[in-house]
Amino acid sequence: MPDRQIVVHEDAAKLAKEAADWIARCASQAIAERGRFLLALSGGSTPEQAYLDLASPRFEGKIAWTKVLIFFGDERFVPPNDARSNLGMATRTLLSRAPIPYGNVFPIATQTRTTDEAAEQYETAVARQFGLSDTSPPPALDLVLLGLGDDGHTASLFPGNPSLGIKRKWFAGSPPGVLPPPVDRITATLPMLNAAREILFLVGGGKKANILKSILESPDAATKYPAAMVNPSRGKVTWLLDKAAAALLTQR
Ligand code: 6PG
Repeated sequence: MPDRQIVVHEDAAKLAKEAADWIARCASQAIAERGRFLLALSGGSTPEQAYLDLASPRFEGKIAWTKVLIFFGDERFVPPNDARSNLGMATRTLLSRAPIPYGNVFPIATQTRTTDEAAEQYETAVARQFGLSDTSPPPALDLVLLGLGDDGHTASLFPGNPSLGIKRKWFAGSPPGVLPPPVDRITATLPMLNAAREILFLVGGGKKANILKSILESPDAATKYPAAMVNPSRGKVTWLLDKAAAALLTQR
């Protein structure tokens, strides 16, 4: 059973501040131990404030950005300048503000014909950073940020989605789930997520309280909800929540 931790903060602002602190601490530790920090960003709206904080004067000189490699846990199959693009959101909130070398950012290219082509291209690009072939087992990223949809999805792994059954690929094309935006996606697969050293879920707001209780406290959660299937074999899972999202939890 992976090491699972639940941390609850007063409100969204404190959740974002703690998330930024958490990422900075992980970066320092990974760089001290292995010379670089391998981070996968999440999309959605929850992480935006944490990304802005990471790029703020509060962290000036505190993160060795030249030693940070930035990947993406998923992407919408839209151009980077589309308002729905996760790369676009990360660029607006972090990548255009922090002194991150251009060559340290590995976006999921979405100008391919199909999402499967995009996923294959991305897997090859990620493998290159590890000197691996894409037939190897997935590499261990130091920290993977994930969000939670109120249908229990995470990254772009949606309930009942064929990509949940993928055993060997690291990234895959994924049709839209039931929640907006209704666009095709590219997503890290469960083997890729479960190879991580640490998963950090950022979940805020009362809208997520019901699904969060199901995921963290229902015995059969891992048979239904993709977020509950994220169980890194050698890593730890931390759920960083605000009080509104954690309101229905009985176990802390
Ligand atoms: C995406 C994300 C997705 C997101 C959740 C939560 O591309 O949208 O990868 O998994 O994290 O849907 O989104 P919010 O943070 O906007 O609630």
